[in-house]
Amino acid sequence: MGTLLPCHPTLTLLPLLFAAAIAGVRCAPVYRPEYLVDGNQLVDMQYHMGPVVSGAPTNLFLIWYGRWEAPAQAVLRDFLASLSAPAPFPAVSDWWARTPRLYTDQSGANVTATFAIAGEHSDAGYSHGASLKRIDMQSIIRTAVVAYPDPLPLDPYNGVYLVLSSPEVQVEEFCRAMCGFHYFTFASVVGVTVPYAWVGNSGSQCPGRCAYPFAAPEYGASGQGVLRPPNGDPGVDGMVIVLGHELAELATNPLVNAWYAGDTPTAPTEIADLCLGVYGDGGGAGGFVGNVSHAADGTSYNVNGVNGRRFLVQWLWNPVLGACYGPNSSN
Ligand SMILES: *[C@@H]1O[C@H](CO)[C@@H](O)[C@H](O)[C@H]1NC(C)=O
Ligand SMILES: *[C@@H]1O[C@H](CO)[C@@H](O)[C@H](O)[C@H]1NC(C)=O
Repeated sequence: MGTLLPCHPTLTLLPLLFAAAIAGVRCAPVYRPEYLVDGNQLVDMQYHMGPVVSGAPTNLFLIWYGRWEAPAQAVLRDFLASLSAPAPFPAVSDWWARTPRLYTDQSGANVTATFAIAGEHSDAGYSHGASLKRIDMQSIIRTAVVAYPDPLPLDPYNGVYLVLSSPEVQVEEFCRAMCGFHYFTFASVVGVTVPYAWVGNSGSQCPGRCAYPFAAPEYGASGQGVLRPPNGDPGVDGMVIVLGHELAELATNPLVNAWYAGDTPTAPTEIADLCLGVYGDGGGAGGFVGNVSHAADGTSYNVNGVNGRRFLVQWLWNPVLGACYGPNSSN
């Protein structure tokens, strides 16, 4: 299966894509509600013999690229800390434990349940400019791990590197075909092969494509109107959605040879791609995000995190249920 968005979508395709701008490794798959209607009818999630991310803990190394404000950083740090910390049900850690954690590799290892933020690096001086190509992410990681006097540790065993770019930073295909991506570094660039992801803040460039449902969709119907972001910032709360999407896919398919659907490893359909636009029961069709919770202040969320935070995360393809699932499901 796997109807995939061409790298350069034609204008006729664009109306279909309002929720499909969250990308996997390469191009974003076209979000098609019929994937979801009959459970696994069209979904053939397969294991391709490679490893999953299983290090306990898995060490997250953050690279803040561009100009970052402390409150925005705090939201993203709290989200990452929430992946493996207790919080009231349904928690971010339940979201992780009940789906990505259920994927295993041929060594019998499950995807990790524990993450630690093991290092951070600020690249406020735009070491590779403010207009980036995809391959530049690897050079940015290289720059961080050789920085003087405070290099980011290079951890080839349990390390995962996250490049987080601020609102003014432009990235090739950002807003057009993707909102983020994950891949692995090349030894020729970074010195070792480690999984990494890039996520951009779309707040000023394209919130209608990469911060949906916290902004009106640029293309297609908005099933239930714009939701108010739980941490008050569409760009940052939108990054949480994309970061969750990319981390789930990175953990289950870090070297792009583990879990994905479809026949082409260059354009795999991964566990979050299958559930684009779904955040609760009944979500997925006509721009409806599904049943989520609404706080007294009018903000919307579906999971709880540390420090009393709330987040909205996308549902993921659950291998046991053969369906998209999140812990806020009533089933
Ligand atoms: C590991 O994955 C298997 C297969 O999905 C699952 O049955 C098991 O519960 C998982 N282990 C943990 C600790 O989640
Ligand atoms: C969504 O929530 C409402 C109110 O609780 C409920 O009546 C409805 O059945 C839910 N929808 C789905 C698809 O579960």
